[in-house]
Amino acid sequence: MRKIVLFAAAALMAAACVNRSKLPVYLDQTKDISLRVEDALSRLTTEEKVAMVHAQSKFSSPGVPRLGIPEVWCTDGPHGIRPEVLWDEWDQAGWTNDSCTAFPALSALSATWDRGLSRLYGDCIGQEARYREKDVLLGPGVNICRTPLNGRTFEYMGEDPYLAAQMVVPYVKGVQENGVAACVKHFAVNNQETRRTQTNSNVDDRTLYEIYLPAFEAAVKEGGAWAVMGSYNLYNGQYNCHNKVLLQDILKGEWGFDGVVISDWGGCRDDDEAILYGLDMEYGTWTDGLHSGASNGYDCYHLANPYLERIRDGRVGTDELDDKVRRILRLIFRTAMNGDKPFGTFNSPEHYAAARKIAAEGTVLLYNNGVLPLPEKPEGKILVVGENAIKKMVVGGGSSNLKTKYEVSPLEAFKALWGDAVVYERGYVGDVSTSYNKVSTGQDLSDPRSSFELLSDAIAAASDARYVIFVGGLNKSKNQDNESTDKLDICLPYGQADVIEALAEVAPDMVVVNISGSPVALPFEGKVGAIVQGWYGGSESGNALADVISGKVNPSGKLPFTVPAALSDGPLKTERQYPGIAPEDGSGIWQEYYDEGVFVGYRWYDSKEIKPLYAFGHGLSYTTFDYSGLRLSRNGKKVKLSLKLRNSGDRAGAEVVQVYVSAPEGGPERPLKELKGFEKVYLEPGESKIVEMILDSRAFSYFDAPSHKWTVVPGTYSILAGSASDDIRLEGSVKL
Ligand code: BGC
Repeated sequence: MRKIVLFAAAALMAAACVNRSKLPVYLDQTKDISLRVEDALSRLTTEEKVAMVHAQSKFSSPGVPRLGIPEVWCTDGPHGIRPEVLWDEWDQAGWTNDSCTAFPALSALSATWDRGLSRLYGDCIGQEARYREKDVLLGPGVNICRTPLNGRTFEYMGEDPYLAAQMVVPYVKGVQENGVAACVKHFAVNNQETRRTQTNSNVDDRTLYEIYLPAFEAAVKEGGAWAVMGSYNLYNGQYNCHNKVLLQDILKGEWGFDGVVISDWGGCRDDDEAILYGLDMEYGTWTDGLHSGASNGYDCYHLANPYLERIRDGRVGTDELDDKVRRILRLIFRTAMNGDKPFGTFNSPEHYAAARKIAAEGTVLLYNNGVLPLPEKPEGKILVVGENAIKKMVVGGGSSNLKTKYEVSPLEAFKALWGDAVVYERGYVGDVSTSYNKVSTGQDLSDPRSSFELLSDAIAAASDARYVIFVGGLNKSKNQDNESTDKLDICLPYGQADVIEALAEVAPDMVVVNISGSPVALPFEGKVGAIVQGWYGGSESGNALADVISGKVNPSGKLPFTVPAALSDGPLKTERQYPGIAPEDGSGIWQEYYDEGVFVGYRWYDSKEIKPLYAFGHGLSYTTFDYSGLRLSRNGKKVKLSLKLRNSGDRAGAEVVQVYVSAPEGGPERPLKELKGFEKVYLEPGESKIVEMILDSRAFSYFDAPSHKWTVVPGTYSILAGSASDDIRLEGSVKL
């Protein structure tokens, strides 16, 4: 269908080319997009306009065939291009050409703290989307990790608004340079999966602007995002897919967003609000999750017949409709009808290489007694234990589920590296499922042994092993890292902690690798040799992990969130904070209160002087770095910072220099420090570099709710530079 419509547009253009002056303005690539939009709009009937503002299938909405204006095709997002589903079903379409490159989960990307890698990620996934003729990529996700329990943390960029903002911008630009819109999701204050469609988030303005909006704001204002997805929850008592404050006042008003607001699938709830409050395209309404059949009735969508009826009987005018259609036309001219767009590439070796690099660079070395890296040619037996060494994890997790050409497991990668020296023991059995939404890994993970037998066999194998590498953690099943459910706690499931402790008795230098997309308590320091935070690394996940374990890549990842020692240490103490309190008014809407305010993640742990297991920004290297010579100078409202970083070890490696600002007394209570700058710097052994950063006035401001303004309290600000939020190496001050 897409090809036929584009062919029709080409035919119109070809006909017009005979006499160029007859080329309709909307087809004339030399004309400004706003002129083309107005010209196209003037040619449309009301019925054609209404057709454009709602879906026609699970992932597409109509164009205007008569005029050669193509349909809009969306795809999930955010880790690869979703396999094709049927026109009107969630079931797989069964195509054989839609196995994509699976990129690492976004939590891994944010752990790289590398803007260049985010750009590379965006560019690669944008190329894959373009090749598959998709116009809108449903991602990236930038909801803040408010609770370590949130099931979708793996799809997001961590707990800090500055880190998420810095990492989302290059991703958006990378995607969009391919003529594919990034659709930044889920807007906004959608920080849990529990009752995600029935919870009203009560959050004060200061917290909203300082913690939950900055990544979206940066994606729109700096990244120039062409689409934003409304979230399922409510804010201010109104569903977010047609939320006046979020969409009209903030996104389109304050930030000047000129793109398209797309509903989350089934997130549109009300005819009138959908018309009035900023929603532009309605998708997924009246489906029953993964279960309902062909009678979705697209004509019955809120923005379909109910809209037409209202226009026809005069209950609403057409101003809102024209605004929506203008935005959709702009989207189409930026994507499908963008004559300058590249053609895209799919499954190229470069994409797999990028996936591997990002996964390796995001891997975080949490603890090391010196056992890592393993020698290049280790002598003796290398025992690998744990389900996540063999379980393929690209499949699963909800809408980010992918079908990939291949996925290298850690065990396969270790075997490729060290051959027959590598032996495997399962140790425990967790989740044996190997398919999701009818995409299958083709594995058989069943194991007839009892837990006792599994553990005994692992211990026996460990007793004569020179090295033991345990690869466990979470997976993407229900109540783990998974859309639509939250985790129930932050402990390792399936008795893995017992397995680790038992193995550590015979192999005290064992390496523990936790694969997860969210914080997991790993209280093994001092009992084992090394602890590594790995992620859902995508197609190349095993190779990336082996690169770090073997020292081919010197780890430089830093935690994008705090890893608490216990869930109860965190800021969410009451039911009203999480998961919300039950309705008493029969509305069916639960109320959740962000009583902790801006004290999220390390902001909380700092202020309460609670030591987490691993702090935000923590991550070790196989080399060491020296910090010296902090200099600060003021230039008007900006502060220039420079310091000297030296690789004082004997291996090349990269360090993420983190800069935190600590505000003086005065104004509202502020966090002890807040991340306001970072730079990832690669150094050869013995090499030094001067690292420079500029802190603008926003770095010193808080959001003053009464005046609705970013405000700087006059006084002396401390500037803290270091290797982690709990490892500050240099301190200076500046008076503002
Ligand atoms: C998810 C979105 C996703 C959409 C389409 C929803 O359930 O929340 O993130 O893009 O489905 O698959």
